[in-house]
Amino acid sequence: MKTVILGITGGIAAYKAAELARLFVRSGEEVQVVMTPSAQRFITPLTLQTITGRQVFTDLFAPLSGERVRHVELAEEARVLVVAPATANTLAKMAAGIADNLLTTLFLAVRCPVVLVPSMNENMYEHPAVQENLERLRARGCRIMTPDCGRLACGVIGRGRMPEPAEIFNYVRAVLSPKDFAGVRALVTAGPTREHLDPVRFISNASTGRMGFAVARALQERGAEVILVTGPTELKPPPGVAVVAVETAEQMYRAVLEHYSRCRLVVKTAAVADYRPADAAPQKLKKKESSLSLELVANPDILKELGRQKGDRVLVGFAVETEAPVEHARLKLKEKNLDLIVVNNPSTPGCGFAVETNQVKLINRQGEMEELPLMGKEELAHRLLDRVAPLLRPEEGEASSKESE
Ligand code: CTP
Repeated sequence: MKTVILGITGGIAAYKAAELARLFVRSGEEVQVVMTPSAQRFITPLTLQTITGRQVFTDLFAPLSGERVRHVELAEEARVLVVAPATANTLAKMAAGIADNLLTTLFLAVRCPVVLVPSMNENMYEHPAVQENLERLRARGCRIMTPDCGRLACGVIGRGRMPEPAEIFNYVRAVLSPKDFAGVRALVTAGPTREHLDPVRFISNASTGRMGFAVARALQERGAEVILVTGPTELKPPPGVAVVAVETAEQMYRAVLEHYSRCRLVVKTAAVADYRPADAAPQKLKKKESSLSLELVANPDILKELGRQKGDRVLVGFAVETEAPVEHARLKLKEKNLDLIVVNNPSTPGCGFAVETNQVKLINRQGEMEELPLMGKEELAHRLLDRVAPLLRPEEGEASSKESE
């Protein structure tokens, strides 16, 4: 199995590399850690060894267990080389082609993608020597993450801090993703909508937007141009995605229809409120002794409208069902003219709103159903896109089915 090689160099952010290793391991990757001598002054090989379940390599001249030369063997099995943190010293050596330890030697030997994550004091980061080295490495095809701004280990606030492990993990995943959505403009909707009773109160639902944001991120990672129309959420928009923030179902309807004609794919994860109060009070409603009845009027069904104007677009809907999920979802797929519907039942443990995971069933136009296991929403987004990609290239599907006849 190909491995993620995690190179760790001697900066204070080395302690965060343990969390990065854990994220890769948790996502099912084999992780081989290589540490420079100074990295071991900040974090021990034993920590990384325990997390990855593999011996950590530190020494270019260590006796060989097999017949192969270690850096050549490691280079051949590498899927990606990630150096986090990458110090000014290691970056300089890499830019100059100096191979004086296992990591810098390995860097010259690999042919896989290389991701460098610089981390240092702001003045050091901005020094022309470091910037020129980064430029040279970038020009040679290395992918370089921009450090974060924030409080640095030296006490000052500035740019130079290593991005959080989750961000590095996502960045690496994007580098490794197939670009099978290149040239596709996609519209994703996410989150709940809010339907106001008065300026401070509203009807809404428990959607957090996580599933939709994960789909938008996965599409962007796979080369699509993404427009994310989102109701109110706490989430940080994925980098490179154009975000349109809305609040009500009617606003979402207008925003979606405005972009629809230019999009080839729509994934509608948003939990749109079906009703809104007939009259939103312009001022805060005052409490009364008597009971209060609310009259609700229907909101437009956005997806149904998209289904009416479908053309050659691919439409993916989500269905939240608490009873007879498959039957209800099949009806929705037909009624809204969808290509694929993702069904989930929020009452199943580990599923639905405000959790990191989900377990869904996918139903296509032919009525075929696929049940996916419980998994993280980020992974689920990729699995869903694996099924959507062929729908965007129907002629290829026909050609390959003809070939196999
Ligand atoms: N949807 C929409 N506009 C609405 C309601 C729903 O675009 N006013 C979309 C959702 O984004 C989702 C799909 O339709 O992709 C199904 O949503 P869901 O709430 O499961 O179903 P409804 O059509 O609202 O039907 P019901 O609430 O009766 O189950």
